[in-house]
Amino acid sequence: MTLKLAQKVAVITGGSTGIGLAMAKRFVKEGATVYLTGRRQAELDMAVGAIDGTVEGVRVDSADPAQLQALFDRIKARHGKLDVLVANAGGGSMLPMGQITEAHFDDTFSRNVKGTLFTVQAALPLLGNGSSVILTGSTAGSSGTEAFSVYAASKAAVRAFARNWILDLKGRGIRINTLSPGPTKTPGLVELVGNDPAQQQGLLDHLASQIPMGRVGDPDEIAKAAVFLASDDASFVNGIELFVDGGIAQI
Ligand SMILES: NC(=O)c1ccc[n+]([C@@H]2O[C@H](COP(=O)([O-])OP(=O)(O)OC[C@H]3O[C@@H](n4cnc5c(N)ncnc54)[C@H](OP(=O)(O)O)[C@@H]3O)[C@@H](O)[C@H]2O)c1
Repeated sequence: MTLKLAQKVAVITGGSTGIGLAMAKRFVKEGATVYLTGRRQAELDMAVGAIDGTVEGVRVDSADPAQLQALFDRIKARHGKLDVLVANAGGGSMLPMGQITEAHFDDTFSRNVKGTLFTVQAALPLLGNGSSVILTGSTAGSSGTEAFSVYAASKAAVRAFARNWILDLKGRGIRINTLSPGPTKTPGLVELVGNDPAQQQGLLDHLASQIPMGRVGDPDEIAKAAVFLASDDASFVNGIELFVDGGIAQI
């Protein structure tokens, strides 16, 4: 059987837990050499320990362009190229209109918008013909969720980046797509309601009841779609938003 990502070098930001970690596992299984990032060293170490294959964890805050530059300098020195970039680091918290603070806005937009922009820009010199950039969006970017407007706006910005960057990079053979998960069982999702397992289960049950498939997603289901977008199977797929969401964005 041919591996879908054989010989490819991939960076997955925010790869230490949740969706990014599931992607890293799949990418390695498909033959890629994977660099995964995150801010917490302990989570990075655990992620690397959970993956059998060519993977390395690098502590990088995606909101800091200097740290991103150092990451891509290292990849340039080692490989001279990058085939797959997943700008996945991100997340948010909940505050309703009327209570939104500057710190809430800055944190959300730094992680999701500033981080995505400067991740892709710093990687650009390493991306050549046939490379794939995947931006992690969200169904929240195209619908309404109570107390989640800042996060939703940040993910709408991510989706807009992909539409526009395919024009800026026209002719270079770099594909850029947005992968938008629906509610997916990860630490980032359940911790939106704190650390109480009963409240976390309540959130998952509530979300599942709104999804046409009647359940929330598993991170590996998002990872499988990422393998497709990263691979040469998606050689003419460019600028799309691929929803992997049990149908919630379509109703
Ligand atoms: N789960 C869902 O239902 C869902 C739905 C739609 C979209 N998404 C999106 O999917 C992506 C992954 O989320 P997840 O649910 O898997 O959450 P998660 O389990 O909290 O994972 C987030 C990852 O990103 C890292 N991270 C966060 N901010 C970072 C920063 N500034 N620099 C570097 N790394 C950073 C985290 O590690 P550190 O905290 O150690 O940095 C962690 O590795 C996010 O972009 C999220 O918005 C999730």
